[in-house]
Amino acid sequence: MTVEDRINELRAQLHRHNHNYYVLNAPEITDKEFDDLMRELQDLEQLYPEFSDDNSPTMRVGSDMNKNFTQVAHKYPMLSLANTYSEGEISDFYERVRKALNEDFEICCEMKYDGTSISLTYEDGKLVRAVTRGDGEKGDDVTDNVKTIRSIPLVLHGDTYPPSFEIRGEILMPWEVFEELNREREVREEPLFANPRNAASGTLKLQNSSIVASRKLDAYLYYLLGENLPCDGHYENLQEVHKWGFKISPLMCKCQTLLEVFNFINYWNQERKNLPVATDGIVLKVNSLKQQKNLGFTAKSPRWAIAYKFQAEQALTRLNMVTFQVGRTGAITPVANLDPVQLSGTVVKRASLHNADIIEGLDLHIGDMVYVEKGGEIIPKITGVDISARFMIGEKVKFITNCPECGSKLIRIEGEAAHYCPNETACPPQIKGKIEHFISRKAMNIDGLGPETVDLFFKLGLIKNTADLYELHVKDIKELDRMGDKSAENIINGIEQSKQVPFERVLFALGIRFVGETVAKKIARAFNTIDELKEADLETLKTIDEIGEKIAQSILSYFANEANRNLVERLKCSGLRLYRSEEETHDTTDKLLGQSIVISGVFTHHSRDEYKDIIEKNGGKNVGSISSKTSFILAGENMGPAKLEKAAKLGVKIVNEEEFLSLIS
Ligand code: IVH
Repeated sequence: MTVEDRINELRAQLHRHNHNYYVLNAPEITDKEFDDLMRELQDLEQLYPEFSDDNSPTMRVGSDMNKNFTQVAHKYPMLSLANTYSEGEISDFYERVRKALNEDFEICCEMKYDGTSISLTYEDGKLVRAVTRGDGEKGDDVTDNVKTIRSIPLVLHGDTYPPSFEIRGEILMPWEVFEELNREREVREEPLFANPRNAASGTLKLQNSSIVASRKLDAYLYYLLGENLPCDGHYENLQEVHKWGFKISPLMCKCQTLLEVFNFINYWNQERKNLPVATDGIVLKVNSLKQQKNLGFTAKSPRWAIAYKFQAEQALTRLNMVTFQVGRTGAITPVANLDPVQLSGTVVKRASLHNADIIEGLDLHIGDMVYVEKGGEIIPKITGVDISARFMIGEKVKFITNCPECGSKLIRIEGEAAHYCPNETACPPQIKGKIEHFISRKAMNIDGLGPETVDLFFKLGLIKNTADLYELHVKDIKELDRMGDKSAENIINGIEQSKQVPFERVLFALGIRFVGETVAKKIARAFNTIDELKEADLETLKTIDEIGEKIAQSILSYFANEANRNLVERLKCSGLRLYRSEEETHDTTDKLLGQSIVISGVFTHHSRDEYKDIIEKNGGKNVGSISSKTSFILAGENMGPAKLEKAAKLGVKIVNEEEFLSLIS
């Protein structure tokens, strides 16, 4: 078999396994077998770039090149749907259609998925373009990002599809993925996504498609457009589309009467809570394309369709008090304390008021009757005030000026909505939060020690910071409630063992704002010891990959604080690995320190990822695009002409593989 044949065979196999897994939900091979096939294909494509293909399954892993999206005009404008919350207006719609058509018709009912809409263009069975809705006339070309979504076929099945067509649908982030993503973001102290819709559209607009690939988006297609479509029925067309490899909603139903339509609506109004993705209503579409054409469009939306929106679950209750919570980072969250009220199956007593601007916008007074909603969001929120129920006006809710826990004056960072307590090292919930982070699994992973025990030790004054942990003895804790000799020994052993945790995880455990796992890893590669990091200035910090102004400033301000410096000193004396060990140091140098390097082309001795790793281990920074700040380009075979031209224009040096390897040897 020739290399080209093997490449084609692997591509066909991987497309088929992708479809089995992501569209049909019926995998035939294990994940490991899949990964092995993918790796073989990646290797072959790298070795034989002459057989490259924009629609190869390898395109799904994304690339880390930066891109700015280009705007593309939609061939057919992307209109929206007329919306209603009222069953009466659904009856009116049905009646209007009946009168206008004056013949029998069917209504296709389907879920209104709550994600972000996308328009896909296929030519000769291949995905050529994916464009966001934008303003309806033109949108952003997000093809590379969309290619990472496994349920979207890059190459179609069979041969019954039209030579050129467009298909539209919704890109979604399943609830499970959304919740996991927010959990990770919380650990990294990044702002949380309010709902899966924002998470999906935010992800689709990321510059780095390899991050998009990791976010596990999904897609349902619901609207086929073009000439020469297979059937006259919308429902029937979607069944065809499914055979070509697209994922369509399994929850579609053709209704012959208005009663059937209402049955569908009422059933899904309840059942939607059990779906793996967010929905916000039901879409009704006249099924026949011929009849759709007869009905036509208004300027904004089709006359042949309407969306019935589910009521966001809402309740009216009394606001008794507003309290303020302090998080691990010092961010203050105002919390509404309410008369308990039933909302989507749970009793709600508290709801978030987010920040000072929201409170001001609602003109909130104690005793007000307020609307509480649990939409796609995780925490219930106050969405409005029933002014007509305000008989006696209570005290106006004011945002606090001082920390409720430690009394420090609050600060508000320019451009941020939240207020912060700046007393990082002595404000109790901040300290406790920092200790909890320190002992967590991805940080020091201290066996036997959990948040409740930390809470107990803290309350009893046994620990005031993370360094105090290393001065605890079995005798100090074995007499405590529900403790005993065995648990006490376990905890002390766990603390002792944590002294072996490598430098990068200790750095992460310190809880420096914005220093998550990845950043900690990069820092641990760039500095031999914590003392070197402590002494580093802004410019040096910024030469490290992934570290920009914000993170660099945060590191500087961490070490500018004397309490933090003392803490680090004590941890060092206790024997924590605040330095790089022999084996970690072994293959690292600072030969490329301060250099920004672009990697381009195809290589023989190492893969691109390996080169990236080599650059970082030698203190350099791998950047995506060429600029006047680029130190040099590590160029393999087939470097693109545009890049060559740009490098020549900016006078950026080009270094080939051999030269590079001897540079760092
Ligand atoms: S059909 C011309 N079907 O709702 C009508 N839209 O306001 C084309 N949506 O932007 C849209 N689920 O993002 C259609 N089953 C569904 C849908 C759906 C969600 C979204 C879509 C559109 C918005 C309409």
